Amino acid sequence: MDKMWAGRFQKALDQTADDFNSSIGVDCRMYRQDIRGSLAHAAMLGAKGIISPADVAAIENGLNSILVDLDSGALAIDPAAEDIHMFIEAELTRRIGEAGQRLHTARSRNDQVALDIRLTLRDEITEMIALLRSLLTVLVEQADANKNTIMPGYTHLQRAQPITFGQHLLAYAMMLMRDIGRLQDTSKRMNYSPLGCCALAGTTYDTDRGMVAEMLGFDGVVANSLDGVSDRDFAIELASACSIIMMHLSRLSEELILWSSWEFRFVELDDAFTTGSSIMPQKKNPDLPELVRGKTGRVYGNQITLLTLMKGLPLAYNKDMQEDKEAIFDSVDTVKQCLAVMIPLLKTMHPLPDSMYSAAQKGFLNATDVADYLTRKGMPFRSAYHIVGQLVALCLERGETLDSLPLDIYQKYSPLFAADLYADIDMTACVQKRCSEGGTSAQSLEKQLDIVRSFLAQG
Ligand code: ARG
Repeated sequence: MDKMWAGRFQKALDQTADDFNSSIGVDCRMYRQDIRGSLAHAAMLGAKGIISPADVAAIENGLNSILVDLDSGALAIDPAAEDIHMFIEAELTRRIGEAGQRLHTARSRNDQVALDIRLTLRDEITEMIALLRSLLTVLVEQADANKNTIMPGYTHLQRAQPITFGQHLLAYAMMLMRDIGRLQDTSKRMNYSPLGCCALAGTTYDTDRGMVAEMLGFDGVVANSLDGVSDRDFAIELASACSIIMMHLSRLSEELILWSSWEFRFVELDDAFTTGSSIMPQKKNPDLPELVRGKTGRVYGNQITLLTLMKGLPLAYNKDMQEDKEAIFDSVDTVKQCLAVMIPLLKTMHPLPDSMYSAAQKGFLNATDVADYLTRKGMPFRSAYHIVGQLVALCLERGETLDSLPLDIYQKYSPLFAADLYADIDMTACVQKRCSEGGTSAQSLEKQLDIVRSFLAQG
C-alpha cells in the first residue's frame, strides 16, 4: 500500500523497516476511539465552515459504516497498515473518495494518537473500577459472614494477637477503595482533550477545540499544544495505579497461598479455582493466586518501561512514544484479568474457622491481654509487660498456655491476679474488647462494613 506521506520520497519503505515501524498490531484495539474522535473532529470542521456540510455527511456515513464493519468482522484490519489511524483514514477514502481526504484538515496523527490513548484509557479505567467494585462486594460478603471467625493476627509472620477473619478481609477492602480513588484521580487529570494541538504548534485554521472536547466528554482542552502531544504522564500515572492494585492483589494472593497450605489450613479454595499436579495425586495447587502474584512483576515492569521511555525525550512528539501503548495496555489487561479471576475465587473460598481458632490458641496471642489486665489493676504497663514475658517463658517450660496456667502460679508473680483473669484473656473476649475505632471487635467491624457499603452505594 502506498504511504499517505509518500509524496516527498523516491523509494518505497524497505519491508523490514516497514514492519518495524508499524504499530497496528497494538493500536488496532483503539479503532472505536479513533472513529469517535474523527467523528467529533469532522463535526467541528463542518461547524466552523472549514469543510462543507456534504463532506461532513459523507465522512460521518463512511466512518459509521467502517465502525459497523469492524465490529461485525466484515472489515478486517490490515496487519500491513502503519497504524490504526492510517488504516481507518485510508479505508474511509477508499469508501467515500475525496471527502475522506479532507478529514485530516487541522489535525495531525500526533494529537490524534494522544486523543485516542486518552479515550481508550478512560474506558479501561471505567472497566477496572467496575471490577474492583465487584471484588469489594465479595470481600464485604465474606467479611460479614466471618465477623466472629477468630484467627491469629500476625506481625513478622509470627502469631501476634487474635483478630477476626472479617477484620483481615476488610483491611483489603480499605486498600481497594483507595485503589478506586487513585483510578478516579488519574481519569480526572487525564480528561482534557489534546485534539487541535495538531503536530506540535496548533493550527492556522479557526478550529473550536472546546466543541470537540465537549462532544467527547472531556472536562476541557489541554492548554498548551506541545504539552498536549508530547506528554504521557497520564499513562504513567495509570501504570502506577495499576502497580499499586497489583501490589495489593499480590499480598492477598500470597496470604491465600499460605492459608490454603497444610501448614495453615485457614481456607479451602474451591475446586473450580485450583489445579492438580501431573505426578502427585494428592495435590491441590493455588495456581491462580500464584499467577496473580507473578503477574505483578510485569505490571511493575511496564511502569518502569514507560518512565524510562519518556525520560530523555525532547519536546514534542518522538516515535519512541509509539511504545507507550504496549506497556500501558498490558498493565490494564493484566489488572483486569487478575481481578476477573480473584472475584469468583474469593467468592467461592471456604474459610475453615475451626483450624483458624485452634491456631489462635497456640502462640500466646493473649499475652498482651494479660499485661493489659495487670495494667488495668494499677500496675505500670512496662512492669506488667515484663511479668507476662516471664509467665510466657514459664508456660513454654511447663508445656502450658496462659489459659491453663494455675492461678496460684500467676499470683506468685503478682498479687493483682485473681480468678476473673481467665474470662478476661479468653480468645473471644480478647477480640471483643478491641472495640476501639478500626479495631477487630464485631462492633468495630460493623462500622467498617458500613464504610465500605456506603462507598459501594455511592455508585
Ligand atoms: N503510531 C503512532 C504512535 O503510536 C502514531 C503517531 C505517529 N506520528 C508521527 N509523527 N509519526 O505514536
